[in-house]
Amino acid sequence: MTLIAETTEQEMDPRLREILQGTAGVARRPIPTDTSASKGSSAYQVHTYPTKVPPGAIEPFILASTEPDSLVLDPFCGSGMTGLAALNTGRRALMSDLAPGAVHLAHNHSHPVRPTIIAAAMAALTTSLMETEIALYASNCPTCGRLERLRHQIWTDVHSCDRCREPIRVWDQKTQSGSSSRTLTCGHCGNEQTRSGVTGVLSKPAEKAVACGSCRTLQRGPADEHDLALLTSVAQRPVTRWMPKVPLGPDREMYRRSALHLRNIKEVADFWNRRSQLALSELWHYIATQADPTVRSALTFAFTNTAWHATRMRRYNAFGGQRPLTGTLYIPQLVAEGNVFEIFRHQVAQVSRFYATHPAAEHADGGIDKAFARQSSATDLSWLPSSSVDYVFTDPPFGANLFYGDCNVVWESWLGDVTDLTEEIVVNKSLPMASGGKSLADYEKLLSGAFSEVRRVLAPGARASVVFHNADDKVWSALLGATNHAGLAQTDVSVLDKVQRSMKGYKGRSGAELVPFFDLVITFTADSNVKAQNLNGADKVALAAIRRHLGSLPEGNKNEVTDQRSLEYLYSLAIGAVIASDTKLTGLSFKALEEILQKNFIAKGRHYYLH
Ligand SMILES: C[S@@+](CC[C@H](N)C(=O)[O-])C[C@H]1O[C@@H](n2cnc3c(N)ncnc32)[C@H](O)[C@@H]1O
Ligand SMILES: [Zn+2]
Ligand SMILES: [Zn+2]
Repeated sequence: MTLIAETTEQEMDPRLREILQGTAGVARRPIPTDTSASKGSSAYQVHTYPTKVPPGAIEPFILASTEPDSLVLDPFCGSGMTGLAALNTGRRALMSDLAPGAVHLAHNHSHPVRPTIIAAAMAALTTSLMETEIALYASNCPTCGRLERLRHQIWTDVHSCDRCREPIRVWDQKTQSGSSSRTLTCGHCGNEQTRSGVTGVLSKPAEKAVACGSCRTLQRGPADEHDLALLTSVAQRPVTRWMPKVPLGPDREMYRRSALHLRNIKEVADFWNRRSQLALSELWHYIATQADPTVRSALTFAFTNTAWHATRMRRYNAFGGQRPLTGTLYIPQLVAEGNVFEIFRHQVAQVSRFYATHPAAEHADGGIDKAFARQSSATDLSWLPSSSVDYVFTDPPFGANLFYGDCNVVWESWLGDVTDLTEEIVVNKSLPMASGGKSLADYEKLLSGAFSEVRRVLAPGARASVVFHNADDKVWSALLGATNHAGLAQTDVSVLDKVQRSMKGYKGRSGAELVPFFDLVITFTADSNVKAQNLNGADKVALAAIRRHLGSLPEGNKNEVTDQRSLEYLYSLAIGAVIASDTKLTGLSFKALEEILQKNFIAKGRHYYLH
């Protein structure tokens, strides 16, 4: 389909023009009823982003609704996993997002750079920055004394005893797994006190780890005199290179939820200690002044993830694999400060590995470019002609669970631009309306605008699949109200299992708003005769569907715990059944369903069985 003349933009980007030309049209094969894909793929792990959908879970949906070379759009593209799924299946991809950081990721996930180019660039970078690295991270092996480079330095919160004023290190109070209890016990006088909600807590070096060439493995020991002297001198060095200075305060929801006022965070730069600031700003200066745009692009991709991993958010984990908690801005009591250059080398290696088997690798050698990402609000797709898109697969923000603009600011700010929060589609009840608060009605209105645009750009007969999850029936109703208003009629409901997703970090401030483990994919088509919704009780439809489902599972023994009997699964199943029967969702919250289940079935913990 070629409808380029219709676009309202005067000057269309030539890359967009090329992608829009000669697409292959829509297909209407059966939609999969459920998909799952693991988060273990290299594509999934290249860069952090909250709530990524693994490309493997998206591909069956694309295959069902398009032909090779058809055009797939994701107007809430986030890290760009839909684009990658489109390329993996030989389709073309258009992606947009409000967040500049998301567009950076969507572009880099879909535009590989040859690993040989990256390797040459890294060799030059290592030579050029070796002295800086040694000046910041030289450290002696705690076992054999050999002069090496630091791998990481643990920092511990140090409280002062309420009774005897002696210092209490959280490091000394941790359990074997590295977690720490809410209560601290003074090692000097035995006094017990709480550690939460306390301001002005000091952070001091505890254990360090050095990769020793002579001892061969990672060697751990306390920071020695040399380490402490180095830290003192580093703390006095000013940062002379550019760093992002975006102010941060309680006007951001995640600032409040993560209690950052207790951590003395006033601007983005405060997320790094002085050593990390010096290292990151030198590294950024080096990357930004590279002449070759391809090299700059690949290194920037590795850099933004490095910046995130180098923050004070990086949690100590006794079992290794230290990382910040995705979807929050939380600064823990025990921070694992990494060697910025070491983290960067690791990220570059990940990017190279991913690019080595990338579906668009031939583009890096001059083939046609099948992916295009740009920054825009989903409520305004005027850069796209009407009826130009063969399929939409998208994952819009879901209610008040995640604040993408706030979570991304830490690494996004290095790109020189941050998300415009006034446009962000989210429910924010803790801020007054005048200063950025958004009600559920605002959320539904913004989503309506986005889905109206989706409907406008869809080709006749094309489908749109929407990933969604929420534990609150009112948020579900807002989503369905928005699609209804836009004239989209639901045709299929499927279950999507993002295997191994952790529930941690997805709790609301009260801890009440759990996000189900299973997402639903609701598929729509444009339809002017959207059916009126059935007002018959959602609870009855849900109960019948769950009874049918539990009856279809193998009998098994009553102690058997399977995902398909879990509260999270049954909630997704219930919501799916209610949507599929065109019944209004009223009253079907996560909590309400739990009560229904407890009344009607045998509960073993959070798993349910027929009587
Ligand atoms: C659930 S995430 C998408 C994640 C994506 N599926 C992935 O695999 O990375 C929702 C996205 O919507 C974006 N968003 C929020 N408000 C928006 C708006 N008005 N227009 C476009 N995108 C918006 C957020 O920045 C976020 O990236
Ligand atoms: Zn050694
Ligand atoms: Zn004491």
